Amino acid sequence: MIDYSRLPYRVEPMTSYDLDAVMEIEYASFSAPWSARAYDYELHYNEMAHYYVARPQNGAARPAVVAPRRSWWQRMLGRARAANSVPAAPAPLVGYGGFWMMVDEAHVSTIATHPEWRRRGIGELLLLAMLEGAAEVGARVVTLEVRVSNESARALYRKYGFEVAGARKNYYSDNGEDALIMTTPTLTLAEYQRTLQGLKDTLYARLSQ
Ligand SMILES: CC(C)(COP(=O)(O)OP(=O)(O)OC[C@H]1O[C@@H](n2cnc3c(N)ncnc32)[C@H](O)[C@@H]1OP(=O)(O)O)[C@@H](O)C(=O)NCCC(=O)NCCS
Repeated sequence: MIDYSRLPYRVEPMTSYDLDAVMEIEYASFSAPWSARAYDYELHYNEMAHYYVARPQNGAARPAVVAPRRSWWQRMLGRARAANSVPAAPAPLVGYGGFWMMVDEAHVSTIATHPEWRRRGIGELLLLAMLEGAAEVGARVVTLEVRVSNESARALYRKYGFEVAGARKNYYSDNGEDALIMTTPTLTLAEYQRTLQGLKDTLYARLSQ
């Protein structure tokens, strides 16, 4: 279990309320972005799907919200509606990720950090949360596809023990680029568990500074 209490970010399940912020990061991160509708489907209809978001722990980066002036009748109406109201806006997102659980294999479908928040350990935190989440729902291994040219993502995956297990020619429809298939060792292997624990300790120390 990841203890977020002393970290500057926390990872939690993605909900529909996150989709606007997810789409902002999605369009800034991918040359062939998914639509909001695709994410909505993932959240509500895909039983294999597990999606997470990362946000600043203290909400410090939350944009200032100036309450609009309301007349007395709007305030009355507001009180009456309060019971059914949408939850207050949480801190904005700094990243998200997700996987599909297929039989005994978890397949990372996406991971992205907001461009302005990269190189601060958020990608690692999301990947760790997904590796732990995958183990919790019974995954034996975690696998994914990554563009051959995506050096930063490949470095992240390598750091977490993913190895190239194959390739898919012309996998990406936007530019015909090949995908590499990368896979973790068996999650329960004692050696891999030790590697993950070491990475987690180092990440905690870095994020807690
Ligand atoms: C890949 C991505 C999620 C990494 O997120 P991040 O929050 O910046 O990553 P972190 O700060 O946690 O970095 C962790 C490790 O990833 C690797 N890494 C991340 N960015 C890198 C870069 N620009 N160059 C080289 N390695 C990089 C490093 O190994 C790094 O470890 P280090 O700090 O010890 O060197 C982010 O670059 C991103 O959102 N890219 C666009 C979306 C994308 O390509 N997703 C992957 C789809 S397969």
